[in-house]
Amino acid sequence: MAGTGAFADIFDGDAYKYYSDGEWKKSSSGKTVAIINPTTRKTQYKVQACTQEEVNKVMDLAKTAQKSWAKTPLWKRAELLHKAAAILKEHKAPIAECLVKEIAKPAKDSVTEVVRSGDLVSYCAEEGVRILGEGKFLVSDSFPGNERTKYCLTSKVPLGVILAIPPFNYPVNLAVSKIAPALIAGNSLVLKPPTQGAVSCLHMVHCFHLAGFPKGLISCVTGKGSEIGDFLTMHPGVNCISFTGGDTGIAISKKAGMIPLQMELGGKDACIVLEDADLDLVASNIIKGGFSYSGQRCTAVKVVLVMESVADALVEKVKAKVAKLTVGAPEDDSDITPVVSESSANFIEGLVKDAKEKGATFCQEYKREGNLIWPLLLDNVRPDMRIAWEEPFGPVLPVIRINSIEEGIHHCNASNFGLQGCVFTKDVNKAILISDAMETGTVQINSAPARGPDHFPFQGLKDSGIGSQGVTNSINMMTKIKTTVINLPTPSYTMG
Ligand code: G3H
Repeated sequence: MAGTGAFADIFDGDAYKYYSDGEWKKSSSGKTVAIINPTTRKTQYKVQACTQEEVNKVMDLAKTAQKSWAKTPLWKRAELLHKAAAILKEHKAPIAECLVKEIAKPAKDSVTEVVRSGDLVSYCAEEGVRILGEGKFLVSDSFPGNERTKYCLTSKVPLGVILAIPPFNYPVNLAVSKIAPALIAGNSLVLKPPTQGAVSCLHMVHCFHLAGFPKGLISCVTGKGSEIGDFLTMHPGVNCISFTGGDTGIAISKKAGMIPLQMELGGKDACIVLEDADLDLVASNIIKGGFSYSGQRCTAVKVVLVMESVADALVEKVKAKVAKLTVGAPEDDSDITPVVSESSANFIEGLVKDAKEKGATFCQEYKREGNLIWPLLLDNVRPDMRIAWEEPFGPVLPVIRINSIEEGIHHCNASNFGLQGCVFTKDVNKAILISDAMETGTVQINSAPARGPDHFPFQGLKDSGIGSQGVTNSINMMTKIKTTVINLPTPSYTMG
């Protein structure tokens, strides 16, 4: 159970503690932040409201701990990560319990998130020992005018202190996708969890604690964004920020110093459906892509662009599948669960009302109880409706009927987002042409958008982000190249 047994140290009976210097502590502020259960809409947990002084302290500790961690052999760093991964998987039940209660993720998906996270940590350890164990050797005589008098050796060195800020929808998985690459590459790590999802993160961090990482190397500060948000992202001790979330990321990128940034800020992933598509396959993928975790995924299908000639048939198939989705509590493993907060539900409702006023066809009746919104397919959506462009982050999916492939590509590319997209057709040649024309970080052919498997590169264009994630890219992003050049007094040619 959460906060008990192996996790007893992280809870004081009333509130969860924060993690600094290898210990679980109460904030000197004496204040806590409440976490509201999206289902009951009552306070479920409390976490420490850390102060700026406490942030300064973890930054100092992170800087010191990183120096000796960078001198820890790579295989030892990997060994500790493997240990943390095993502990994380062993404790999947209490962590999943927190996910269910603080972000209303369905029970089975919550377990999957923890297991996937353990696998990601192990994969990262494996990949790290390979790619960080290799460098380049260059010789000077390949560049015009040079003799072979210089040998250049390159290696990858850590950046220093990495600040990781994951979002509420994958607080554990998107935290470890930042923590594991940072650590294997020899960096230290300061984690600022989202408020909703913080307790799941604290349990996950405790698994790293139990694995025996050095004191100060990993810290986790909780609290109000207004108190420590900007303070963290603008802190001079931070050498790199890895952020996943909403447009806060744009503000962070404007305020951060001259440090590498990795950002993933959402999407409006389009699903383009051609006349020859397998409509049963499309319908299943629209359900999975549009409605899993109630549409609260940056990679969710967020607009269907279907050729008019097959639109009626597709809409009927999707409607039939929507009718089968179960709606209710995450504990019951319902397909559709309450969205994360009342403000989120209100925002979604605003998009629905706008579509109603402007004449969209409602394939189901709009229904909401508290934060629970029933799945809704909106047909005949037009570009003047907000839902055509904005991310609901909820179980509401617009269908726009198109008369040409160009119209679909144009709609996709007119979005300020460019995360992923998908195209359904049996004609692979057309699929490739469409994929090349879509201005998104990834295009899936005949499947819904998705980040995983977690070692695949994952990146967004335009307002969807900066840099590329995925295990290898994240490790590389959290290092910089260091070169040593050996200068020879006379040219030396191999076997010469
Ligand atoms: O919400 C953003 C996540 O990166 C999406 O991950 O495609 O595995 O659901 P997912």
